[in-house]
Amino acid sequence: MNRLIVGNWKMNGLGAALGEAQGVAAGLGGVVARVGICPPATLLERMSRALSGTPLAVGGQDCRAEASGAFTGDVSAEMLADAGATLVILGHSERRAGFGETDALVAAKTEAALRAGLEPIICVGETLAEREAGRAISIVTGQVRGSLPKSLADRPFAVAYEPVWAIGTGLTPTTEQIAEIHAAIREALVGLLGPAGGRAPILYGGSVKPGNAAEILSTAEVGGALVGGASLSAADFLGIIAGA
Ligand code: 13P
Repeated sequence: MNRLIVGNWKMNGLGAALGEAQGVAAGLGGVVARVGICPPATLLERMSRALSGTPLAVGGQDCRAEASGAFTGDVSAEMLADAGATLVILGHSERRAGFGETDALVAAKTEAALRAGLEPIICVGETLAEREAGRAISIVTGQVRGSLPKSLADRPFAVAYEPVWAIGTGLTPTTEQIAEIHAAIREALVGLLGPAGGRAPILYGGSVKPGNAAEILSTAEVGGALVGGASLSAADFLGIIAGA
């Protein structure tokens, strides 16, 4: 299966940053991986227009589970799709930790993404304290079982393993640690969804850079990458994509 490489711009990017996305699109000739950028919601529509006719997909970073209503400040999956998104990141650790998102809420948001025709990228990952307590596998597989509804079985989706301690720190797990967790996620996915759980790409995220991308992307069961800081620069993001 083709790898999936997605940039998560987080709360970064004004209109002037659209040039970086266009630079990525211009560098995708010959790339077989599927590539996407998830900009802030304010840039989605402009970015999807600027990239129309290119293979570079755009996506949201979160959505509300409801389709519409009195939810000041929130954005629904339908609104993301209407703005040109085809992907949506859900359950990122910055939302689980900073906004109290539970597995059940992430599952509801995932249902919303499917309802709107979006491909969800559901994030899981342990904290450093959980890893040091020997609980990384149980935490991550528990998040997979709690955050992924059964309705995913016949729809395109991805899981992203992002150890919280590797995000924005420059630290990365060893490839053995990545392979161990990805194998556990695969087993949990197959247990939950049957054969469809064997097909979905499992992305790695957390301090992916041009210098470590090729090694990480060639690790067993790594089906792509979810890239934060390095996706803000077309040159760095293309350097990562080249490792796919
Ligand atoms: P960094 O690549 O900046 O570590 O961020 C990873 C991440 O959180 C992507 O969702």
